[in-house]
Amino acid sequence: MSISIPRGTQDILPGEVEKWQLIEAKARELCEKYQYKEIRTPIFEHTDLFSRGVGDSTDIVQKEMYTFEDRGKRSLTLRPEGTAAVVRSYVEKKMFGLPNQPVKLYYMGPMFRYERPQAGRFRQFVQFGIEALGSNDPAIDAEVISLAMNLYKEMGLKKLKLIINSLGDKESRNAHREALVNHFKPRIGEFCHDCQNRLEKNPLRILDCKVDRGHELMNTAPSILEFLNDFSKNYFEKLQRYLTQLDIPFEVDANLVRGLDYYNHTAFEIMSNAEGFGAITTLCGGGRYNGLSEEIGGPEAPGIGFALSIERFIATLNAEGIELEINESIDCYLAALGEEAKEYTVGLLQQLRRAGFSAERDYLDRKIKAQFKAADRLKAKYVAVLGDEELKNNKINVKNMATGEQVEIDLASFIKQFQELQE
Ligand code: HAM
Repeated sequence: MSISIPRGTQDILPGEVEKWQLIEAKARELCEKYQYKEIRTPIFEHTDLFSRGVGDSTDIVQKEMYTFEDRGKRSLTLRPEGTAAVVRSYVEKKMFGLPNQPVKLYYMGPMFRYERPQAGRFRQFVQFGIEALGSNDPAIDAEVISLAMNLYKEMGLKKLKLIINSLGDKESRNAHREALVNHFKPRIGEFCHDCQNRLEKNPLRILDCKVDRGHELMNTAPSILEFLNDFSKNYFEKLQRYLTQLDIPFEVDANLVRGLDYYNHTAFEIMSNAEGFGAITTLCGGGRYNGLSEEIGGPEAPGIGFALSIERFIATLNAEGIELEINESIDCYLAALGEEAKEYTVGLLQQLRRAGFSAERDYLDRKIKAQFKAADRLKAKYVAVLGDEELKNNKINVKNMATGEQVEIDLASFIKQFQELQE
């Protein structure tokens, strides 16, 4: 029996992978402009990092982690997200002591969540994310949001909606928490088992429950915005002013709570409005996580960031009908006729590639006609034909496939003359 790919994962093949590369390249280019530097952390971490960082009562930690014991009996987990690991590294590598503050980092790589697979939801998916650590200025919250929005826009997306909320500081959240407990407690028996546990542990998570989404108490739950103290309110207002200044339209949604526990103050999501996009419309999520560093044993350090998945990015491009410009042609196909000529093209091919050209030759001992067909399939701009006869005369025939024009050039100066043909 043949072995198939695990559920919720995918192979990204040539033809499709070029889209990924374009998005990744654009993300790196933007990070350079905004001065975020790449960080690469391990694919697995100690399980504690996520249970403490992401939060014990979240769906991610309770239901979705790929956790295993290694041969040394340590509990390890395939990373379900990037933020906790970046903050772990920030603390462990003492980046808080670096002269350049805030520390601005980005990452790109696979994340793992044991979720029910559906369109736009995978068990292995690739996140691009950024984290800015060490600043409490709402201007950096605006910068983080603007980088995400610009990345989507520069790839041609138009149908985007930015939703923001404030989860306030500790004082505001405590006041809100108490109001939530009072709101749900009298009728908590009508809620699912998970929500009953959440009531005392983390009542905010009730608002995020997929099972009890339709319960009437959900709509009438007290909003965090009513409980923001002056500092939090002021912080949120500043963020909104900055977004306006940056020409980034947004909507405030007091029900946006996000699925991870570490957030406070700013929380945001970018959604797609594109018609024909599946049920899952959140493309990107992020927010501020002051206190996460302390949670995992580090010093006090504020932070804000976002993550988006390339899978949903591509799904949105498809939904908006955006075709990325993918370079599918090659510069030169070396066709050979005769044994000696074939042997000669091995070295010639290397010369072309060293000179910076994309080049290919035949490896299937094909007839000349079939070699031309292969060149066509590769969308070769030029086909250089070398026969034993030409080889004897130190010549090679180069055909411009767009115009049909042919020139015979000296084999000795092939690369130089081939370069001149491009001008
Ligand atoms: P998150 O909302 O859990 O946040 O995930 C961020 C993004 O990852 C989502 O908006 C979505 O694009 C993508 N994503 C999540 N799960 C899946 C999945 N199963 N399949 C495909 N794509 C998925 C975080 O991960 C936070 N670490 C974001 C953050 C960074 N907050 C602050 N800094």
